[in-house]
This record gives sequence, structure tokens and C-alpha cells, in this order.
Amino acid sequence: MAWVTANDVLETKFEALANALWTLLQNEIRTSEDAHAVWEAVPAVLARCNEQATYEMPGAAIAYAWLHLLDRYARTWSALERLVTAGCLPLAKHGVRILDVGTGPGPSAFAAYDFYAAMTEFAAQTGNKQWRQPPTITCVEFDGSTNHLRHHLAEIVFEQSERQSNGVLAMCFALSDFRAIVPRIERKRLREMLRWTEDEYFDEITNEWVSDLRYSADEANDIAQSLHRYRLIIFSNFLTTVSTVDTFKPNLVDILSDAQPGSVIMVLGGKGGPYPDVYEYVNCLAESTGFELEVPGELVSSADTVVSDRVYAEGVKVYKYLQRLAPDAAEDIPEVQMVRSHFTAQRQAAPSSQLWAYRKHRWPRTT
Ligand SMILES: C[S@@+](CC[C@H](N)C(=O)[O-])C[C@H]1O[C@@H](n2cnc3c(N)ncnc32)[C@H](O)[C@@H]1O
Repeated sequence: MAWVTANDVLETKFEALANALWTLLQNEIRTSEDAHAVWEAVPAVLARCNEQATYEMPGAAIAYAWLHLLDRYARTWSALERLVTAGCLPLAKHGVRILDVGTGPGPSAFAAYDFYAAMTEFAAQTGNKQWRQPPTITCVEFDGSTNHLRHHLAEIVFEQSERQSNGVLAMCFALSDFRAIVPRIERKRLREMLRWTEDEYFDEITNEWVSDLRYSADEANDIAQSLHRYRLIIFSNFLTTVSTVDTFKPNLVDILSDAQPGSVIMVLGGKGGPYPDVYEYVNCLAESTGFELEVPGELVSSADTVVSDRVYAEGVKVYKYLQRLAPDAAEDIPEVQMVRSHFTAQRQAAPSSQLWAYRKHRWPRTT
């Protein structure tokens, strides 16, 4: 972490994402109508981001990216630093596979990607290969417009990095529905499918079509076993109500019980309201599937990071841009007034999230 600070790593990576977002927003918002659509989506994005209808509003994906992406990127970075401090940031021999559930425009996915990429840069500079942790990210996101936005954003990041950071292109894709992810069943299905996959060819000696099995039983098993193996599983602002946890309980239980020792679950979410019950529920699921609590609801915020003022400055820049295209749009709506005031007169403190982290150990701890 001293190396990260001394080399302005967060600042540099933040600038890359902020520049890409700015390019994207200018591409996507060109007219007064576009700007109006963003403002119209602001109240739903702020108050009802756990309702799928919110994302069906034309300007919602962009409003969400404007108001949350950079702030939550920095917040997730801060959360990952806490995992380091708590000694529970997962590492893996060949790099960490990450599952980010309910990715949205990708604040946690980009932060986790950049964090591990930084570690890999550290390994190259110091010659210590154990820190070489190239990340692989799998996003899970339901909403089409949000997926489109993140896809476009990842491509811009890639282009602006002079095509260096190709791992970021994984963020162009997403599994669409968390309810469809059931690792153990999917693996079994894949193994059966591979086991009986045949390659057909024409045998000129016997003058007939013949076929061979493409994989041996061991090969089919090895390929299937690597499906849905994650070392870090992130739920950032996804488990927002008790009924959400209930809906996803079968998937959560399957993924968590299936996770290997050394895997870590990171949950980020709000405070108050339904959250104490949500966290209690998640605690029970994590414990019953062999995870131990490592970070018990510590507060994390972009305000704890060196890019805190940059997050605000980028928000102001977009605000001014919208204002030029659609002066004082939707100004009679209270949530819009709040956002306007934040970016013009009265800057609000950056929000904080609770961070809960759990780790699966190889053997139960004795102390
Ligand atoms: C509140 S947003 C959180 C986005 C991001 N993780 C963050 O921290 O800002 C929740 C996201 O979960 C997505 N979502 C809801 N149900 C889902 C499901 N069944 N499978 C995948 N994504 C889902 C929504 O479309 C939305 O983008």
C-alpha cells in the first residue's frame, strides 16, 4: 500500500476511468432531449435503484454512471485496501477470478480490476512474482442499457490505454441473471456435454464417416471443474432488502458452499433501514456455508481516498455540461434540486457504505 501511495496509483487509474467516462458521456448525451432524459431519471436513480423499472427509464444508465460510478469506484478501492489491512484480500497462484454480482456500470468491477492490475505492476517492478495477480472479472448484470454503457466504457478505457489493458475488455460482457447461476448444476451439465462431444471425420480407408470423443473423461472433468470458480465474490449495493436476499438464497447458498478455501465474499451496502436485517441474513448464509467473518461492517467512503475531490470535480463537470444542453431542466423536482445544490452551492459529504467481508478457511480456526 506504501508503493500504491508513493506512485500515485489510485490517482492514475482514477484519471483513466474518469477520462473514459467523460468521453462516453459526451458521446451519449448530445442534445437537450438527452440531457432532459438524464435529469428525469435522477429521482429514480437516487431513491429506487433497487427497482428494475428504474433502469428502464431512457436516461437511467447514464444518470447512474454520472452520480455513482466514480464515487463507488473510489469507495470499492478503499474497501479493497481494508481487505489488505485485515489480511484477507484473496490471492491465487494464477491470478484471482472475480465475480461481481449486479455489476451496474461497473464501479466495483473496474476498481477490483485496477487494484489487482496494480499488484501485478508492483510484482513487475519489485521482481516478486507472488504479487503477480492478473485479475479475471466476470460481471453479472441484468439490465441491457447498463450493459451497453459498461461495454462502451470498457472499450474506451482500452482504447485510451493505447490497447494495453486488454483484461478490462472482460467488462464488455456479462452473465445476465444471477438467478441462473448455479455452479454445481452447471458444472455437472457441462461435464456431461463435453464427455459425449464427438469430432466427426471422413475415413478414406474405410470410406465412411467416423467419430472420436473429443475429450477424455479427465479432460471433460477438468474443463467443467474450472467453470464458475471464483476467488473473490462481490455484492456491491446488490443485496439491498431482505426479500432480495431471499430471492437469491438458492444461488447464494450454491455459490458460497461451492467456493474453495481462500475465497472471499465482499458485501458493500447501506446503513440503517433494512440493512441490519440484510447483513444478519447474509452472516447466517456465510457462516452456514463455511465462511468466517473478517470485516464486520466497517464504514468505507470515497472521502477516505486521495481522489475524493476529483470525484466531486468530475461530477461538477458533467453537471455543467448538462446545464449547457438543458438549462435548469426538471428544477421543480426535490431530488433534482438536491443534486443541483450539491454541484453548485452546498457540497454534501460523500456517502459511506458498510463493508462486510468473509473468508473461507481450509480448516476451522481453533482460536
Ligand atoms: C443498485 S445497482 C448496483 C450496481 C453496482 N454494483 C454499484 O455498486 O453501484 C443493482 C444492479 O443489479 C442489477 N440486477 C438486479 N437484478 C439482477 C439479477 N437478477 N441478475 C443480475 N443483475 C441484477 C440491476 O440491474 C442493477 O444494475
